[in-house]
Amino acid sequence: MSTSLTLRRPDDWHLHLRDGAMMAAVLPESARHFARAIIMPNLVPPVVTAAEAAAYRDRILAALPEDMTFEPLMTLYLTEETDPEDVAAAYRDGIARAVKLYPAGATTNSASGVTDFDKVRPVLEKMAEIGMPLCTHGEVTAPEIDIFDREAAFIDRVLDPIRRATPGLRVVMEHITTAQAADYVRAHDKDLGATITTHHLIINRNHILVGGIKPHYYCLPVAKREEHRLSLVAAATSGDARFFLGTDSAPHPDHLKEHACGCAGCFTATNTMALLAHVFEGAGALDRLEGFTSLNGPAFYGLPANDTTLTLTKSDTPTAFPSKIETETGPVTVFDPGFPIYWSA
Ligand code: DOR
Ligand code: ZN
Repeated sequence: MSTSLTLRRPDDWHLHLRDGAMMAAVLPESARHFARAIIMPNLVPPVVTAAEAAAYRDRILAALPEDMTFEPLMTLYLTEETDPEDVAAAYRDGIARAVKLYPAGATTNSASGVTDFDKVRPVLEKMAEIGMPLCTHGEVTAPEIDIFDREAAFIDRVLDPIRRATPGLRVVMEHITTAQAADYVRAHDKDLGATITTHHLIINRNHILVGGIKPHYYCLPVAKREEHRLSLVAAATSGDARFFLGTDSAPHPDHLKEHACGCAGCFTATNTMALLAHVFEGAGALDRLEGFTSLNGPAFYGLPANDTTLTLTKSDTPTAFPSKIETETGPVTVFDPGFPIYWSA
């Protein structure tokens, strides 16, 4: 028996491609299924200016295998020194589609991020004026805030004040992990969207910590309680167009994940579409998968949906995904959902 489902080709609205040898190894994993992706700028050093984004885009396109098509949609890393005019020019010229806000110290390579939000007000105001989206890593970094509460605290302390002070600013709450974030999106329909990752639809915090520490399930924002995972599944499968896929696929070589101070990130580019078919089928919502992966994101970003398709097939035997992708910097473990998947893309 086999079942198949044909979707408009999906896009990934939050992706880490890195650079150099790592990028060359992971780029085909995304380009095989996804037509476009919003590319995260947290390189070392970060992609801050329009010129840096254009150069990074050219390196991505140069690394793309000849038989593949893929459009990188670039972002600029917001710093306290970012020039509003450079941002506006990047948007006008189609070099950058969004600006990424990392609170300083929140995650991988976020040291150049924002500490004093007043310092970025002119940039945010310019973005509101021209309609350029702000992608937020929504976690506060205050040491007294428990890591499991950092997303909810960000909404109250940072996001809501910024949105109130900047009418018209279009915001994507990236990789939401809590019921509070999903509720905030639902309660504020104007100028607000949210991406949800594949892994946060599958794991809760027990997967990271029960029966031994599992570094390949550690990412940021860290997975929360099961009730939050269920609320993310409800949001993703609801058909509400404000929720769309951003995998946050974030490769790190295994030796830096399996480490005394392991890096945050789950690498899901390889099997994301098959895993999502499983999740949506389980929720009785296969008919809403296309909205989540292929329609809602382009609508938020003001782009047409892709005119090519991707077919997902379900068979009787589990799909064999590679457990690792080999790179020149070492193997990268592919996210393992912990149960068999019968779908393939
Ligand atoms: O888990 C994560 N990994 N979360 C992020 O915010 C950054 C990412 C990375 O770049 O590795
Ligand atoms: Zn990310």
